Amino acid sequence: MTSDIQKFEDPGLPEHVHRKADHDENAAKAAEKKVAILFVISALGTLLLIGSYYFVKSTTFIFLPIMGDTNAQQLGIGAGLGIALLFIGLGAIQWARTLMPDTEVVAERHEFRSEDKDREDFVATVKERAGAAGLGRRSLIKRSLGLAVGLVGLSPLVLLRDLGPLPRKYLSTTDWKSGTRLVLDPSGRPIKPEDLEVGAVAQVLPELPAGTERTLENIGKDAVLLIRIRPEEFNLDAERLSWTHEGIIAFSKICSHMGCAVALYEQQTKHLLCPCHQSTFDVTRAAKVIFGPAARPLPQLAITVDSEGYLVAKQGFTEPIGPSFWERSS
Ligand code: FES
Repeated sequence: MTSDIQKFEDPGLPEHVHRKADHDENAAKAAEKKVAILFVISALGTLLLIGSYYFVKSTTFIFLPIMGDTNAQQLGIGAGLGIALLFIGLGAIQWARTLMPDTEVVAERHEFRSEDKDREDFVATVKERAGAAGLGRRSLIKRSLGLAVGLVGLSPLVLLRDLGPLPRKYLSTTDWKSGTRLVLDPSGRPIKPEDLEVGAVAQVLPELPAGTERTLENIGKDAVLLIRIRPEEFNLDAERLSWTHEGIIAFSKICSHMGCAVALYEQQTKHLLCPCHQSTFDVTRAAKVIFGPAARPLPQLAITVDSEGYLVAKQGFTEPIGPSFWERSS
């Protein structure tokens, strides 16, 4: 059997130059000494570390012209560790360069595919063993084994359920419904149009039925930004304009790129900015994306007022909130 490792004899490469230590015993001894000295210095570094830790008070300060007052214990530990690691590395390099075997070798690569004969032998062996086990004759065992193996293969798919609901389903349902009041976050106080001056922005959540607990998960999904501008500044079609109320417009706070909280509002330009990747949305044009990686506007929540004058949702969101990267068709 031939070895995989052979002496390298490629005539295209320059001739290998042997090191002095390979053929001169004195040079080899000198190289060995050098390596040993480097390792000893490393050991001294470790001793410096240990000594600094146990015998130098952490309250002792030394003065060095460049560093000013420095904690001597920390300096000793740091320097000791640095010396220990550096000189172990230098010693190893020196050892490899001067004394370790210096033979160039080449490992032949083989095809990954097995030899035809090996493949045929394998198939013959499987058939023979299957025949011996009676699989050919016992069709009931064959079918039930196929069923068992097939179902075992399916079991990981069932476990995928633990990863949570599908994004489309999860992000399509929020607590916003027709008539749900907008309440300020975190006070929970319902809000009227006159509470919001032109140029103001507020974060609101849906008012939940009494006794319903607000979860962190729902706060994330339900958060809405309420912005008031002058009504004549809107550049919306009739339907979207009817979703606003006296210059107040509401958008999901969850960025349509990767789901960060859109948190910055530029009053002058009427732009909403996402701090994560700088997607910028134009409030006057129904949060149309004017810059950045987001692929679609922030979903708009249709709002109006109820009989008591409080702001309420006209309906839930008409599209999923949050990131759209999983919506391949969008
Ligand atoms: S998450 Fe908002 S721009 Fe990326």
